[in-house]
Amino acid sequence: MKAAVLNKLDSVPFYIDFPDPVPQDETQIVMNVKAAALKNLDKVKTKEFYYAHYSSLPVVVGTDGVGTLSDGTNVYAMGITGTLGQKSLISANRYTVLPANIDFALAAALPNAVLGSAIPLKDRAEMKQGDVVLINGATGITGKVAVQIAKYYGASKIIVTGRNQESLQALKTLGADVAISILQDDETFLQQIKEIDQTTPIDIVLDYIWGKPAELIMNAFQNRHGDKIRFVTMGDMAGRTFPISSGVLRSADILLMGSGFGSLTPEVMSLYINKILPEMFALAAAGKLTIETESMNLKDISTAWSVDSKGKRLVVIID
Ligand SMILES: NC(=O)c1ccc[n+]([C@@H]2O[C@H](COP(=O)([O-])OP(=O)(O)OC[C@H]3O[C@@H](n4cnc5c(N)ncnc54)[C@H](OP(=O)(O)O)[C@@H]3O)[C@@H](O)[C@H]2O)c1
Repeated sequence: MKAAVLNKLDSVPFYIDFPDPVPQDETQIVMNVKAAALKNLDKVKTKEFYYAHYSSLPVVVGTDGVGTLSDGTNVYAMGITGTLGQKSLISANRYTVLPANIDFALAAALPNAVLGSAIPLKDRAEMKQGDVVLINGATGITGKVAVQIAKYYGASKIIVTGRNQESLQALKTLGADVAISILQDDETFLQQIKEIDQTTPIDIVLDYIWGKPAELIMNAFQNRHGDKIRFVTMGDMAGRTFPISSGVLRSADILLMGSGFGSLTPEVMSLYINKILPEMFALAAAGKLTIETESMNLKDISTAWSVDSKGKRLVVIID
């Protein structure tokens, strides 16, 4: 088959011929891949620094995708083998059937953003109708989906932070109520979070960027008297670490968590595949959940790897 193959960590995959994957037993089936989104996860898995980088090379890259089973059913699945190839092995009992009217590129683009927003809201933060949600680093693809899903789940107020003023304002059309720039000086940013929290106490923080902005948000909660804040991080685009003051954690009720493959139980992954994704695919097919995509062909994978898709999810189309 044709596939995007990585020969060496910290390099770019190439479009070459690679042996077809063969199911090892009846728990594995072949998906004929039609489209696969190119996400941060796919890229970091090729990096030596990443805790879960590829350990056996050469390898077909790509973590999930949409395609067709041997009986003609269109599905989304995470790949046991790489999904940026014409065929990928998937688990025989872990896939989501696509609605009839959904576009392959849209269906390929959505799941990672849903994993990074609906799961932290529903499972990690146990979101309730009426919760106030702050989304830190909301201008990215996952943040935009998070705004829409928080609204859909009944958030009473959605506060978004980010560095791109135009994208921040655009988030208001998706359901955000207040937009705060992280490019202000530290004290101004911290005070704005503090004031909002005093008038409408924040219940949930969804964090995609960590680093300094997350540190300032955490510090804004010092000496706060109120219900528990569920602070969930999914990414670290602004910095991998930040110092957390013991005083902040002792003076406010903050539950700090992460959400990612390693921290989700098989039961939660099953909920994601069997309940949350079908619901979100149905919303997207009805035009009620949007994600902007840009498509490229598999043969251009080396170029696609370093394309800046400017706020759109890059989707690789596979013939
Ligand atoms: N754990 C999970 O389940 C899960 C699922 C999905 C995504 N994620 C993670 O969440 C993060 C965001 O994903 P995404 O899909 O939204 O990616 P994306 O579309 O590439 O967006 C990246 C976001 O990070 C911001 N950003 C980048 N560098 C920054 C910096 N130095 N300082 C401040 N902000 C910065 C961008 O701001 P601009 O708009 O200003 O460029 C944008 O808001 C990634 O780390 C991704 O791996 C995790």
